[in-house]
Amino acid sequence: MMKVSVIGLGYLGVTHAVAMAKLGHQVLGIEPDATRLEALEQGILPFHEPDLGEGLKEVIASGLLTFSANHSKESCAIELHFICVGTPQLAVSQAADTSYVEAAAKELAPWLSETAVVAGKSTVPVGTAQKLKDSMSAVSGFEVHLVWNPEFLREGTALEDSLKPDRIVIGSWSQHGFDVMRKVYRPIIEIGTPFLEMDVPTAELVKVAANSFLATKISFINAMAEVAEVSGADAVALAKAIGYDERIGNQFLRTGMGFGGGCLPKDIRGFVARAQELGVGSAVDFLKNVDSINIRRRDKVVELALSELGELGNKNITMLGVSFKPDSDDLRDSPALEIAQRLQALGAKVTVHDPVSLEALVTRSPELGQEQDLLEACANADLLILGTEWKEYKDVDPQKIAELVATKTVIDGRNVLNVAKWQSAGFKVIALGRNIHNG
Ligand code: UGA
Repeated sequence: MMKVSVIGLGYLGVTHAVAMAKLGHQVLGIEPDATRLEALEQGILPFHEPDLGEGLKEVIASGLLTFSANHSKESCAIELHFICVGTPQLAVSQAADTSYVEAAAKELAPWLSETAVVAGKSTVPVGTAQKLKDSMSAVSGFEVHLVWNPEFLREGTALEDSLKPDRIVIGSWSQHGFDVMRKVYRPIIEIGTPFLEMDVPTAELVKVAANSFLATKISFINAMAEVAEVSGADAVALAKAIGYDERIGNQFLRTGMGFGGGCLPKDIRGFVARAQELGVGSAVDFLKNVDSINIRRRDKVVELALSELGELGNKNITMLGVSFKPDSDDLRDSPALEIAQRLQALGAKVTVHDPVSLEALVTRSPELGQEQDLLEACANADLLILGTEWKEYKDVDPQKIAELVATKTVIDGRNVLNVAKWQSAGFKVIALGRNIHNG
């Protein structure tokens, strides 16, 4: 059992703190936001994430996770500090805002012992760790052991991904750094998880490279969808066919309204900005295309709605699902939300249904109508758009919905509906990248 701290209790931090405590470590969670801290102390998760809420309550009850608003004497006795604060996109450019990691490192530096290890988990532009190490060492008066330990968890399966990751990546300047990280992750290494030791810039790059690759894969299949749409082909059948080739693989080839969330969009933009700073912008220039293909899918849904409805004034549109992916209430850069906002701005009356995200939507986009009951949300709709592939939309009986809507048209923005079933309930089914014959 080790004493560790987790600095920054956002999505990544809470998940990591719970995971560390579940491994048996004594964890101190540090979060300056008083409202968030108070909720967490009471075992209340400030966002929706399957299994994490129960995990949080469990580790609080066992005494393995405690909280604080800031560092104190307690921090001096801690062997390993994880920095988990956010690196959002800057408002003024596409680059990542590293001010929160810089501030977290600066506040931590005076409390460090000479053997303590600081592990950065936030997604940062390559070269950030070196700067953090230099600034912390200048404050502490000794060479701080800083390692970089990128996180690969996905929202919706965050805790499971943290406890059973595909790999653990550690970049370190010192052997001591590797040894401490090996110790903290021992139970995960013992279940056969690869533990990859490397230099720090590589570890920083692994994360943005992985997210860039995933984003590229999604935009690749969405680019094929654009071609399919004008050539009578079907991108879903195409994805299945190419996915059988093991070198390509069938994951992350789901065509639809594209990627969103707090990671893939800002990470590819931040990578382009950093590469430009380093004088190798052209090496990752293709990521700009990845971004535009992704955004064009949102345009396509708006165009389809306009071509189905003509004038949008007084037309009722129901958006089924608004989070950027199912099993999450995260609205950051959500394709469904952006499309709903654009259609509303064009004059439509948009009603949003989502199993968990409506509370977050109130502050985010109060102009949009909200309905918690799925069938009520569909009543009198001139157009349904499936924006997030929640299970309940796949499972719903289209016959029941057919009786309620004003016009039986559905745009499947995620390619998950059973087309034959919806068609036999009388619906015209429109889907991105597909060649569907209606009636
Ligand atoms: C992503 C990465 O998958 C994680 O490995 C990484 O740790 C995380 O970012 C991060 O940087 O923290 P996440 O943002 O939770 O995880 O979501 P993904 O599962 O990657 O999905 C991202 C978006 O792509 C969603 O909007 C999803 O609907 C879309 N998507 C995904 C597709 O449009 N098609 C697909 O085939 C797959």
